[in-house]
Amino acid sequence: MNDVAKLVLPDGQTAELPIIEGSEKEKALDISKLRAQTGYVTLDPGFVNTGSCQSAITFLDGEKGILRYRGISIEELAEKSSFLEVAYLLINGNLPNQTEMNGFSDSISTHALINEDMKRFYENFSSRAHPMAILSAMVSSLSAYYTEATGGANIDDLQLNAARLMAKVSTIASFSYKKSIGQPFVYPQDKLSYCENFLNMMFAVPTTEYEADPVVVDALNLLLILHADHEQNCSTSTVRVVGSSQANVYASVASGILALWGPLHGGANQQVLLMLQQIHEAGGDVDKFVAMAKDKDSEFRLMGFGHRVYKNFDPRATIIKKACDRVLEKMGVDDPLLDIAKKLEARALEDEYFVKRKLYPNVDFYSGIIYRAIGIPTNMFTVMFSLGRLPGWIAQWKEMMEDPQNRIARPRQIYTGSQLVQYTPMSERG
Ligand code: SDX
Repeated sequence: MNDVAKLVLPDGQTAELPIIEGSEKEKALDISKLRAQTGYVTLDPGFVNTGSCQSAITFLDGEKGILRYRGISIEELAEKSSFLEVAYLLINGNLPNQTEMNGFSDSISTHALINEDMKRFYENFSSRAHPMAILSAMVSSLSAYYTEATGGANIDDLQLNAARLMAKVSTIASFSYKKSIGQPFVYPQDKLSYCENFLNMMFAVPTTEYEADPVVVDALNLLLILHADHEQNCSTSTVRVVGSSQANVYASVASGILALWGPLHGGANQQVLLMLQQIHEAGGDVDKFVAMAKDKDSEFRLMGFGHRVYKNFDPRATIIKKACDRVLEKMGVDDPLLDIAKKLEARALEDEYFVKRKLYPNVDFYSGIIYRAIGIPTNMFTVMFSLGRLPGWIAQWKEMMEDPQNRIARPRQIYTGSQLVQYTPMSERG
């Protein structure tokens, strides 16, 4: 028998709220019958205190800086796994054996081409179009080609659509880059690994041989693993909300891409780089920017700092920061922005404003340093975040579709507008 919390309301009503406990001892009050029993709803702007679902995919503990995918620590996966293996783990719930891994990898190679008609879409995007606008439009358009994509939880359908998404989003992303620099599209190559293939489509040109640097392949693999899932963040919640209406997985993921684009979410990685460049051009005066970030009258925020859940170091930021030194050294890159980032972090972490609010570097703070070192343009940084987060979105959509308790997402509100007023005819209006 679950424990219950007893609620006593000012009007004398009482309610018993069952207590739900998760596998990591997190506790929740089940309020699913609160309105029926008392007429009350709860109010929680930004869902700071509100759980939307029960999930077995990712666990994170913001106070301790813990992140695990299907129970495996992000540190172990970052060191020992590959992005495609992590994608399989998130979507299917277990690490694949070699046969399963080969099948998953082959299915992604098989589906890497996009319909030739879709190539023509690029001819009509503005040359100044942000790659996230292109990515979301192209992913949404996939449902126009794979019309059998349903909202149902038909696993065969989903496995096929998951492979299509994992494969085609990589192709779509690289094509949007080629379009932006006026170079010809480079087609996917079955013989290449996922990361080698993406780099080849991004940086190969018809006139010369291209072979991806193993250091760059490893760096990309690491970044994609670190971005692969993060429980009920803004974009993943968006994917779940859209999918809860039985919209197909392409429509749901395209919605997630658009939510991720925001500068408070995945768009922060691009803003961090622009901020570091601004500080560099201002002579590296980090104190001035820290002061601006603390000034409530200034719109300026320290991008890449702070997190809704992590009130300790974001474990991903810790891993990426170490990788920055390793990758840049191996590549012989000396980036002044890395020194500025480290100086900014040190300065902020000794400042009462940041310490009191528990604002630490998040996943976006250092990731752009590596993207920049491996040749990814700044406006593609959030597309790279989307590429990494894709298996997480698919896994969460699948889990929701398979959840017998799943219902269409439809929050309540507290109305604060006018009470009943009569319609005023035009002749009587001021
Ligand atoms: C991601 O949720 C996820 O898991 C997301 C993510 C994922 O993997 O999916 O981890 C990826 O989105 C990381 C976050 C990237 N965004 C940024 O780096 C943008 C800068 N950070 C913030 O805007 C902010 O910290 C958020 C959006 C990340 C969190 O916002 P919250 O939880 O709503 O916190 P808040 O805005 O209410 O801030 C609390 C206080 C405020 O000050 P007071 O009102 O208490 O005086 O902290 C201050 C804020 O002004 N604050 C900052 C700050 N972040 C918070 N002040 C200066 N610089 C900052 N970056």
